[in-house]
Amino acid sequence: MRGVTHPERRTTPPGRNGTSAPGRNGTTDTEEPHSTTDTEPNGTTDAEAGGTATGAGGDAERARVAALRDGAPLVDFDAGTTPYIDYQSIDVLLSLQHPRSAEPAEVPFYVLGQVKELLFKLLYEELVRVRSLLDADEVRQAVWVLRRVHREAGLLCSTWDVLGSLAPTEFNAFRDSLGQASGLQSYMYRMVEYILGNKDPQLARAHLGVPGVADQVRRALEEPSVYDAALALLARRGAPLTAATLERDPARAHEPSEEAERAWARVYAEGGGPDDELFRLAEALVDVAEAMCRWRSLHLLTVERIIGTKPGTGGTHGVRWLRRVSEHRFFPELWSARGRL
Ligand code: HEM
Repeated sequence: MRGVTHPERRTTPPGRNGTSAPGRNGTTDTEEPHSTTDTEPNGTTDAEAGGTATGAGGDAERARVAALRDGAPLVDFDAGTTPYIDYQSIDVLLSLQHPRSAEPAEVPFYVLGQVKELLFKLLYEELVRVRSLLDADEVRQAVWVLRRVHREAGLLCSTWDVLGSLAPTEFNAFRDSLGQASGLQSYMYRMVEYILGNKDPQLARAHLGVPGVADQVRRALEEPSVYDAALALLARRGAPLTAATLERDPARAHEPSEEAERAWARVYAEGGGPDDELFRLAEALVDVAEAMCRWRSLHLLTVERIIGTKPGTGGTHGVRWLRRVSEHRFFPELWSARGRL
């Protein structure tokens, strides 16, 4: 993915080139999943048909391969890997699950935590693109990407359905193995909060001592947010926004202003309605803000259901702290402008 790097990107996945992938309990996977010598029904091997790790692209080539093999799936590859593993580093990805206990409920907790991290990363990348599009006055394109971001945030929300199924006793059975680990220390989530405009420099401190991570977090904190980009766009389209709004230090918390509220109210009241691109942008931003607030609220509910009023592993009072952060709204004047309409 563009922009975001992993501090220790492994280049040779385990399990390839004669090495073994570590299993969950320190075991190794030695099984050879595929034979490379099978011959297809029409006497053509997959490699001969173009089924190599690098493969051949294009509709015409795929049609040729499908016709040659009567549509039989490619299953034999010569390169000691499969094109699918190579494309997405699947063997690396699937070697990264190391629950610390033998409790069955830790597995869904662990895997869904990783799923959420991947989705945070995706959201961040998409939002970087939205910000660039807004900077370039490509409003329709930005709205198009925001439409997808909204769905991705919805996917994040639905992960709480699974986590809410953990009984308190199931969670407590492995909770101690987390030590002081908490989602509060998720740097990808923090970067998502930052690019959406919720800049709390205090919470960046957790990451500043982590090589490879610190720079990413610092950049996300110091660069303008998607909301800063949207306000700058409104100003370019004639909204009377002053330097206090447009030239503020982007690394500091956004102070809601009456002028921004009025500018958004005008987009709704005086623009061309749903056909107007600024109107669509406003609603697309609110879609994303609402989905992220839902994520927070569902987290709060799930946590309350699982640990009640107990403190968090990350040092806070738990639900009390989460309830307070749930009240925050991204793009605040887009919410408050509604009171003017
Ligand atoms: C299902 C069991 C979970 C419980 C009981 C739980 C509990 C908590 C608590 C109590 C906090 C407040 C900070 C602290 O003191 O730890 C917190 C924060 C947080 N948790 Fe969870 N959590 C759970 C699952 C998850 C998962 C799977 C994720 C996804 C990676 C996650 C992401 C976060 C984030 C991002 C924060 C910081 C929120 C913010 O800064 O606004 N949590 N969690």
